[in-house]
Amino acid sequence: AVERTLSIIKPDATKRNLTGKINAKFEDAGLRIVAQKRIQLTKAQAGEFYAVHKERPFYDELCEFMASEPVVVQVLEGDGAIAKNREVMGATNPADAAPGTIRAEFAESVGENSVHGSDAPETAAVEIAFFFSGLELVG
Ligand code: CMP
Repeated sequence: AVERTLSIIKPDATKRNLTGKINAKFEDAGLRIVAQKRIQLTKAQAGEFYAVHKERPFYDELCEFMASEPVVVQVLEGDGAIAKNREVMGATNPADAAPGTIRAEFAESVGENSVHGSDAPETAAVEIAFFFSGLELVG
């Protein structure tokens, strides 16, 4: 089925000018970028987005990092987009990421891992609505 998923190109990647290279990976995999914007998150906004991780030891560091430089938030659309995006991203820890994946090629560490992608249809809907209005999604 055609799905939509929320993707974030993180500060470590925008800082190194990797937006285009990462987008090429998505497009080569058949994912369409149906919405996209470059924004600067505050630490509070990052904290709200990652609220499910509030109790994790890395939460504060994660929020600081996500607010440290601009991010590119985007909606990717395609057949099985959620799983496909996770495949293209590779494992959370770049040390475990398969060759050719975004994290294997570009991520610096488990924290500074270049991209975020929604993990399920329910979270995708919530995460897309966090950043985009319906009018901004142009399929
Ligand atoms: P993401 O898919 O954006 O979802 C939560 C993020 O927390 C994850 O990617 C990592 O960037 C980050 N994260 C997960 N585990 C750790 C860790 N052990 N130390 C620092 N950051 C982490």
